[in-house]
Amino acid sequence: MDEVTKKLFAAACAARGNAHAPYSNFPVGAALVAGGKVYRGCNVENAAYPQGLCAEAAAIAAMVAGGATRIEAMVVVGDGDCVPCGGCLQKISEFADAEMPLTVATPEGKMRRLRLRDFLPLPFAKQTEADGAC
Ligand code: THU
Repeated sequence: MDEVTKKLFAAACAARGNAHAPYSNFPVGAALVAGGKVYRGCNVENAAYPQGLCAEAAAIAAMVAGGATRIEAMVVVGDGDCVPCGGCLQKISEFADAEMPLTVATPEGKMRRLRLRDFLPLPFAKQTEADGAC
């Protein structure tokens, strides 16, 4: 495992430990590096279920609040085959290239190192008139 992934995995595991997931009992942690700094997030559920927040969205909010906007690499940690939901992939794509390394891992350290484009090959992107907007 490379040093950045190792650091992000540790940060995502730590964030996962703080997850507020009393309804699903499915804690998730996410960590990303942007502008040389690590930002992390965990899922934050709510009694009004749809108000819950995913770990990836929380990490992105921390990044933007910290003044960074380009995700260089990201690690998501959850049990089993935890992959980012479609909504989070779209949120990630707002701040990352298609080639951005996106690793999904279990807390035990089983990892799948992929790229954003593997999860979301065709993100929605606002078109300009020159692109032939619809
Ligand atoms: N969840 C995340 O935070 N990230 C993922 O990648 C998958 C799912 C959360 C949402 C909800 O709090 C719980 O996991 C169960 O779906």
